[in-house]
Amino acid sequence: MIHLRSVQKSYARGEQRVLACAVDRLDIAAGEQVALIGRSGTGKTTLLHILAGILRPDQGEIEVAGARLDGMSESARDRHRGQHIGMVYQTFNLLQPFTALENVLLGALFGRGAGHDAKRRAEALLQQVGLGERMHHRPGQLSVGQVQRVAICRALVNDPELILMDEPLGNQDRATGGQVLDLLLDIARNGGKTVVMVTHDPESAKRMQRTVDLATLRSDLGAAAAASHGGRA
Ligand SMILES: Nc1ncnc2c1ncn2[C@@H]1O[C@H](COP(=O)(O)OP(=O)(O)OP(=O)(O)O)[C@@H](O)[C@H]1O
Ligand SMILES: [Mg+2]
Repeated sequence: MIHLRSVQKSYARGEQRVLACAVDRLDIAAGEQVALIGRSGTGKTTLLHILAGILRPDQGEIEVAGARLDGMSESARDRHRGQHIGMVYQTFNLLQPFTALENVLLGALFGRGAGHDAKRRAEALLQQVGLGERMHHRPGQLSVGQVQRVAICRALVNDPELILMDEPLGNQDRATGGQVLDLLLDIARNGGKTVVMVTHDPESAKRMQRTVDLATLRSDLGAAAAASHGGRA
């Protein structure tokens, strides 16, 4: 499902380059559920964005859901994401003028989930994460944890093969977070879906099949580049 080789993404900052993410090698099989861990600033979000095709790295080979993303145009990557990937962003990225239900349906509009039963699926998902009574509220009228659960529903509405989640439970109380994780893992295991979930919570990580620490994926090249900008690795 996921194969990365010698991937690096850096940003220019004045004369310097800041290495945001370096992965020598990463392979995730179809149907695996993986927790992605690592200290703040080590490139977890950058890596998810590379996997989603939102960011293009400076170098490296990226194969995701049967397609090579390196060398693909931005619009082709956008289409590929709509067809195969559901993403929960660290900052949620809901559209403020729209209600919870409309935000979830917008996920279907840009993917393969468009169609007559999208609304039914969106409503069912919102019910399942405990937002049955909040479907017609706008993000500004919801709590942060509720907004996060809407973002999770939006990622799931297309029934994607690959679910990428950037700390999807970071704003949930333990009981709610546990229920939402149960739902996610249920959907993933019953549907044979691949999940990559960034988490700082060891309990959540333990429930996944495998934990990948980003620090262990960095190539020698990456470590050298990280050292050259102040040893922040
Ligand atoms: N647009 C940008 N321009 C310059 N540097 C950036 C940019 N985006 C990210 N970085 C740098 O890249 C590194 C990796 O950032 P990233 O957001 O991927 O970290 P993270 O592991 O997700 O951290 P956190 O756990 O805090 O979310 C950081 O050191 C960050 O400062
Ligand atoms: Mg992050």
